[in-house]
Amino acid sequence: MTAAVPRLEIRHLVQTYDGKRVVDDVSLTIHAGCVTCLLGPSGCGKSTTLRMIAGVEMQASGEIYVDGGLICDTVFRVPPERRHIGLMFQDFALFPHLTVRQNVGFGLKGTGIDQEARVRELLNRVGLLRHIDSYPHQLSGGEQQRVALARALAPRPSVMLMDEPFSGLDNRLRDGIRDDTLALLKEEGAAVLLVTHEPEEAMRMADEIALMRGGKIVQRGAPYNLYNAPVDKAAVSFFSDINTLRGKVQGALTDTPFGQFLAPGVPDGGEVEIVFRPQHVAIDFDRAGRGPSPTDIQGAPARGEVIRSRFLGKESLVEFCMEHDGQVLKATVPNVFLPKPGTAMWLSVRRDRCFVFPATKG
Ligand SMILES: Nc1ncnc2c1ncn2[C@@H]1O[C@H](COP(=O)(O)OP(=O)(O)OP(=O)(O)O)[C@@H](O)[C@H]1O
Ligand SMILES: [Mg+2]
Repeated sequence: MTAAVPRLEIRHLVQTYDGKRVVDDVSLTIHAGCVTCLLGPSGCGKSTTLRMIAGVEMQASGEIYVDGGLICDTVFRVPPERRHIGLMFQDFALFPHLTVRQNVGFGLKGTGIDQEARVRELLNRVGLLRHIDSYPHQLSGGEQQRVALARALAPRPSVMLMDEPFSGLDNRLRDGIRDDTLALLKEEGAAVLLVTHEPEEAMRMADEIALMRGGKIVQRGAPYNLYNAPVDKAAVSFFSDINTLRGKVQGALTDTPFGQFLAPGVPDGGEVEIVFRPQHVAIDFDRAGRGPSPTDIQGAPARGEVIRSRFLGKESLVEFCMEHDGQVLKATVPNVFLPKPGTAMWLSVRRDRCFVFPATKG
């Protein structure tokens, strides 16, 4: 049996502006019904990548394939409207002078698809059939968003490109619309490339996340893998607050106030950073100057003094000044836990949730 042909494949895509590579050798493969999120900080080249795939901008080098067929390299170029690609960008502007029916049916002329039936099917699916004769200004933001989604999906595109499609929506609407959108995208079977700079959105939507930085994809994988096996410190901190300990390596080990950590492959005298998330810090009360006994899982405890504690809704965030070196470490605790500033407590760290990386400068 041959493997299914990916709906979208991009190979070694490069874009240069003013001599600077803003997209630098990006390759991706997305299969039918799969959602890949291009996730990364502002300016890292996400939208530029999407624009090249959409065909509104020409790449400096690299190739783009849809359903196994070449649609663009540096000499050959299929025009945007013939790429079988649906677009949904941040300003998904509907045509204001067209009704919902006309908006959704817009891309169907000449496709051979029964326009009225397809428009009704999709509007029914997004719960807006009753608005078929309304104009965009008569709809709420969330409703306009759903019409835009129906419009993009109407011609049954092989690929859907979405650039921050939910960023204009009210926070409370967003989660519901994300889930509904995802369900519909899966049903329709397009390959989806969704751009976002919000890790929560990527975790919620993606089958696979491609983490982008400085024009390059630095890590690709299922959300679980990116969160739990990040490639470097920046990849950890992109998903959550972090704590960092620094240490020098001797014999592939480094000493910290929380015990020794393995630093395989780091030469003697090399510096490492031990990175962990606040939710993996356990807190114990001080009992006459003593803390809990060390365990294999938690390692040794270290003592610190509460600087401040804040209630954040689902959890409380407590900041400590550590006794050994004055470093500030953060811990989160479920529910309400608000110890007074100055309280001495013992911190320990889930050793299996610590990441050891060669130290970065600064
Ligand atoms: N037409 C252009 N001419 C010159 N530079 C550009 C052009 N378009 C984008 N850039 C630059 O290329 C880089 C990547 O831009 P891009 O819009 O792809 O970023 P992004 O990852 O989508 O960011 P954001 O999350 O802010 O939307 C940025 O440094 C941007 O300033
Ligand atoms: Mg962008």
